[in-house]
Amino acid sequence: MKKRFYITTPIYYPSAKPHLGNAYCTVLCDIFARYKRLRGFDCFFLTGTDEHGMKIEKNAKAVGKDPQTFVDEIVSIFKKLWELLEISNDDYIRTTEKRHTDVVQKVFSKLLEKGDIYLGEYEGWYCKECEAFWTETQVGKEHLCPDCHRPVETAKEEAYFYKASKHVDEILKLYNDNPKFLTPESRKNEMINTFIKPGLGDLCVSRTSFSWGVPVRERAGHVVYVWLDALTNYISALGYGSDNDSLFKKYWEDEECEIIHVLGADITRFHAIYWPMFLKSLNLRMPDREFVHGLLMMKDEKMSKSKGNIINPFPLVERYGVDSIRYYLAREINFGSDGSFTPQQFVERINADLVNSYGNLLNRTLGMINKYFDGVVPLYQSDATPFDKPLEDFALSTIKMYESLFDDLKITDALACVNELVNRGNKYIDETMPWVLAKDESKKDQLASVMNHLVNVIYIASMLYKPVLTHASDEAFNQLNVSEDLRTYNKIYEFGCVGGQKINKGQPLFPRLDAEEEIKQIQIMMSENH
Ligand code: MSP
Repeated sequence: MKKRFYITTPIYYPSAKPHLGNAYCTVLCDIFARYKRLRGFDCFFLTGTDEHGMKIEKNAKAVGKDPQTFVDEIVSIFKKLWELLEISNDDYIRTTEKRHTDVVQKVFSKLLEKGDIYLGEYEGWYCKECEAFWTETQVGKEHLCPDCHRPVETAKEEAYFYKASKHVDEILKLYNDNPKFLTPESRKNEMINTFIKPGLGDLCVSRTSFSWGVPVRERAGHVVYVWLDALTNYISALGYGSDNDSLFKKYWEDEECEIIHVLGADITRFHAIYWPMFLKSLNLRMPDREFVHGLLMMKDEKMSKSKGNIINPFPLVERYGVDSIRYYLAREINFGSDGSFTPQQFVERINADLVNSYGNLLNRTLGMINKYFDGVVPLYQSDATPFDKPLEDFALSTIKMYESLFDDLKITDALACVNELVNRGNKYIDETMPWVLAKDESKKDQLASVMNHLVNVIYIASMLYKPVLTHASDEAFNQLNVSEDLRTYNKIYEFGCVGGQKINKGQPLFPRLDAEEEIKQIQIMMSENH
């Protein structure tokens, strides 16, 4: 296991306000970063905005603003959302910052010097919406953009090209030698079959048809094509090529750091084909992992700004709290597959996992400790009931399983393990029947052991939930009155370490949602966006 981590989200287009689909990736990366830090690792987490390009220039013009003012306003909304969702990013890179544009110009010059970029003329099928040129085979007979399915048009302009065809074998070797480089596995096949096998053309890396971009120093009138500009953020943010490159040394050059890019399926080819090529051209190290998550859909359609079918995350967080939204995104939508947002699933998921299982286990346990032990958690003892040891074993194997899943970015599955532990705790109450034990003075020890085991299961589950539930976990620790020294991750391996303290029973962690009413409320939020 490496000792340091660098995790990135894609940088978002501030062409319109952020939606829940954008929040999805950032929340999942945040959860991963928090998990690593919780376990004592150094993890640098980067997000940001991709602020150049024709679309932004157009959108700004449409509302009578200059592009910089336009993006400044939207970026402040992105930043507010990240604050609201308690995103713990270490830096926020904007491609309009000088620290970034300087690096892009340097990168461009380096590639040019190396002969990996040449000046030519581009004529091809161009999708204005996606700002991408496509080949004849990709647009098909209908001449539709393979990404957004809008009609494409032929376009011609003087442009610089990156010799992508030269590096194809290196990419195939990269996939071959590093099975975890691009996951899920299906994405690798998609890259090979859809893009590499049909013949990868050279990539256009400059434009003359718009001016909102990083100027190419070597030729007036050209700006760097958005993808070369955008991908460079992953190294410019660390100070690559600048005088202040200590972060770059620490989080990119040092092999002890694991570099992880997380991205949506629609931008895989840029990350999994061109980005490694650019890095090779720059003689830089490859990322260790590119993890492709699925898309958040609405009625089988990708939630997207251009389709106008978005969910505004702000009212959702305001009504349900940050923990519920973070939990829903991580648990309901299997990380790596597409998923859809429906009000019903949202309400059901929160009620089932957070209200009925987790919140209720805490509430019931604290209630019984107040009733049977005057609010003092009994100390640990082993084997008082036949159900104790199996519960302990289950808890300890849950921790192991959770860690190996989380380390492999299987975040949804890791959380499912915690749910199982909580459910196991509830089942343990049914098995041990504390209300029966309480009636028999000779069973007092057994009753005490049951309470202690329950408290320790809740303690472990709360620690494991901590990367996701930034409030409820601490609230559970507070209600259990877990001492500060036990609020560190490694203590959870010592089953039974919590005990002897007086509890502070408080409000339930999550209020029960009235399904009918809340589904209606979310539907209203959704319709307000149209
Ligand atoms: N600016 C580029 C990325 C450059 S990274 C060097 C871009 N921006 S974007 O705003 O259009 O998308 C950013 C990310 O948000 C992508 O990973 C995309 O997959 C993700 N999502 C956009 N809509 C989404 C959903 N509906 N669901 C999940 N993720 C979504 O592409």
